[in-house]
Amino acid sequence: MELIDVCGGEVFITGQVGPDGDFAAATKDVASLVYLCKPQEGCLPDQAWESSSHKERVDLPLGPGLFEVRSALSAVDRINKMAKPILFMCKSANRAGAMASVFQGCRNGWSSEQTLEWAKPLGLKFLTMPPMVEWVSACVDSRFPKGGLIFRQLFEKESSTFTYILGDAETKQAVIIDPVDKTAERDSQMVTEMGLKPTLLLNTHVHADHITGTGKLKGLLPGGAKSGVSEASGGQADVKIHDGDKIRFGSRYLEARATPGHTAGCMTFVLDDKSACFTGDTLLVRGCGRTDFQGGSSETLYASVKGKIFTLPNDCTVYPGHDYQGRHSSTVGEEKAYNPRLTKPVEEFVSIMSNLNLPYPKQIDKAVPANMVCGICDEVEGGDKAEASV
Ligand SMILES: [Fe+2]
Repeated sequence: MELIDVCGGEVFITGQVGPDGDFAAATKDVASLVYLCKPQEGCLPDQAWESSSHKERVDLPLGPGLFEVRSALSAVDRINKMAKPILFMCKSANRAGAMASVFQGCRNGWSSEQTLEWAKPLGLKFLTMPPMVEWVSACVDSRFPKGGLIFRQLFEKESSTFTYILGDAETKQAVIIDPVDKTAERDSQMVTEMGLKPTLLLNTHVHADHITGTGKLKGLLPGGAKSGVSEASGGQADVKIHDGDKIRFGSRYLEARATPGHTAGCMTFVLDDKSACFTGDTLLVRGCGRTDFQGGSSETLYASVKGKIFTLPNDCTVYPGHDYQGRHSSTVGEEKAYNPRLTKPVEEFVSIMSNLNLPYPKQIDKAVPANMVCGICDEVEGGDKAEASV
């Protein structure tokens, strides 16, 4: 019977008691036992337990139907009061490793990422089991409940672009998605009046129809807000975003999902509770962005939407990068049912996209080079009505 030390002699994990029943000997230095098997699993025979020194014991039978976050958290409080060293035990050390990680994450006030980072070098086996990883993350994250969300959708009428402000109601930390240069002063004033402190100014992609406001806003906002765009876009920015990144503002975060197709570097930002996604031009209300410039690909866009957006809950609100017909948002469920392009088979979708016959975007030759450096360049002349990107 092997005990794995996961915390300087204070916390151990183990699998089933060995056939020689050496429970008492193997655990002689352990003060408490957290037993995670159901009685019928028979991992710890009564005899073995009786022969030990009657350590403090809590039974926390974890099975697929018993993985409730709330009960795990109350167990953490109880375990925390137990004498140390503590042994977490189950049949194969998976549940033991997961529960020990929840315990460590909660008592140290770690985020789910920090907890998993801690578990990795220990080689804990549950890390290879996605449902267990999710469970550990959910337990640790729910220890510190998410604060309220401040949310605004703003509109820039010349390019029909939506800008989004998301802030944590408690800490006032905020992010801005897809600001436009022409409305940078408006946005700066707005977040200042709201008492928000934007830390990151995000672009869903390098836009072809307007100049991003991220560069201008950096100069307008006190407090060192940074610009951000995906690494895959090739654009310059303070922060390069990658698939799977978590963009934190206070107790809230956005998950970055790479959704190439409209451009090669498009990102969709998904709110932590999956109640909203910010899709840029990847998915528009009843439409999608064109795929004939900037490394675009119809097949890739189709795969991105199906794999990274349509897999979100049906009631997840879709906030697009543009709308040209007065609509503001949609839901994943609605778009799955009614999007006239993305409800079609891929071959038909590709055919639709190659026959759009859209005009060359008027601003593209000025906007794209400017946006590759976060909008810091000579002002674009004129106020041409931008082409719809659909
Ligand atoms: Fe675009």
